[in-house]
Amino acid sequence: MSSEKLTTVEELQANLINAYHEEFPNDEPTICAFAPGRVNLIGEHSDYNSCFVFPMGISVGTMVIGKALDDQENPKCYFRTLAEDLKESKSFELDITEQITPLESPKWGNYVVGVLALFLERIKPNKKKSFRALISTSVPIGGGLSSSASIEVAMCTFLEILYRDEYAYDLQLSQVEKALLCCKAEQTYANVPCGVMDQYISCFAKADHAILVDLTNSNVKHELTSGKFAENVEHCQQAAKILGHKNLRDVSSIDELEQGRDKMSPVTYRRAHHVITEMQRTQAGAQALENKDYKEFGRLMYESHESLRKYFEVSCAELDQLVELARSVDGVFGSRMTGAGFGGCTVTLVKKSSVEKCIETIKNNYKGKATFYQFEPSDGARSIDLKKSNDK
Ligand code: GLA
Repeated sequence: MSSEKLTTVEELQANLINAYHEEFPNDEPTICAFAPGRVNLIGEHSDYNSCFVFPMGISVGTMVIGKALDDQENPKCYFRTLAEDLKESKSFELDITEQITPLESPKWGNYVVGVLALFLERIKPNKKKSFRALISTSVPIGGGLSSSASIEVAMCTFLEILYRDEYAYDLQLSQVEKALLCCKAEQTYANVPCGVMDQYISCFAKADHAILVDLTNSNVKHELTSGKFAENVEHCQQAAKILGHKNLRDVSSIDELEQGRDKMSPVTYRRAHHVITEMQRTQAGAQALENKDYKEFGRLMYESHESLRKYFEVSCAELDQLVELARSVDGVFGSRMTGAGFGGCTVTLVKKSSVEKCIETIKNNYKGKATFYQFEPSDGARSIDLKKSNDK
């Protein structure tokens, strides 16, 4: 098999338990939380425009194991990541008696600290708990498969278990609130003006399903920071405003956009063009899959890629080549870049019997070095039983 061998949830857990035992001999973790990464099948750069997305959970994700500690007078939290190739510190301790602000370093810490800070807003000051947490992810970092959302949602799931008995019923998070909390953590602590798709699917994913998510009234606020992503968010908001709407979801058709074209910059027009057509493709895509019309779904995937390339301008030569190589293989229905863009992965819909051929064609012709993953649509965030591993 020429696809990457994926770390299983069991392997992730075994590694974390070993690391825990090495660091804290004769002690056992009591909590284990897992949240998956995602792949988006269609509906890109749609979420922060309150449009549709169509993602699925994947079998790789982030796991957090650990336990509550006794020190309630002076609550402190200890975090350690097992990630290799890190230039920054792999562990740190955090005093949680005071308000928690974003960390200067390590940068990775902000994904967990942001979630902790927002979660603690729901907890009475005298109920705050000390804990230690060890974190490991099997999501390829920087691959556009949402490693950051899976870290946030795994951390939040860990905290839900840690505080399960303590926090008042009316403070309990619904799954939607949980996704929004994790999204806000990324926006305000990691400083990325993302939409809510990644955190949402990491919470709600279901084995064997892709989920069409309608993001009306997502109420996600965007902190517009620097960078291409933020610029694009701003173009979309401007286009909506020029056309007299709250967001691009409410634009009825490309004709409506054409009528307002003169009033906006060419870049703003192009960004809006992608979002409006992508919304139609996403709904049509969900319908096509329901009808088992894979050909039609594939066609929409190619169209989505072309629109991301030409109008949203977030593809790159490498992603374009991967899509074109996939297209040349018999048995491939469709292919497109997935996630934010500027690199990362493509997702390809291909007949099982043609998978090897597709991999071979890309391997032999792609100008870079590609890695291949075969994912099953997998379940969302969950608590994982530690008993079995502790008993051994
Ligand atoms: C990133 C963001 C998501 C979404 C995608 C593009 O993954 O975190 O909210 O905007 O890009 O579809």
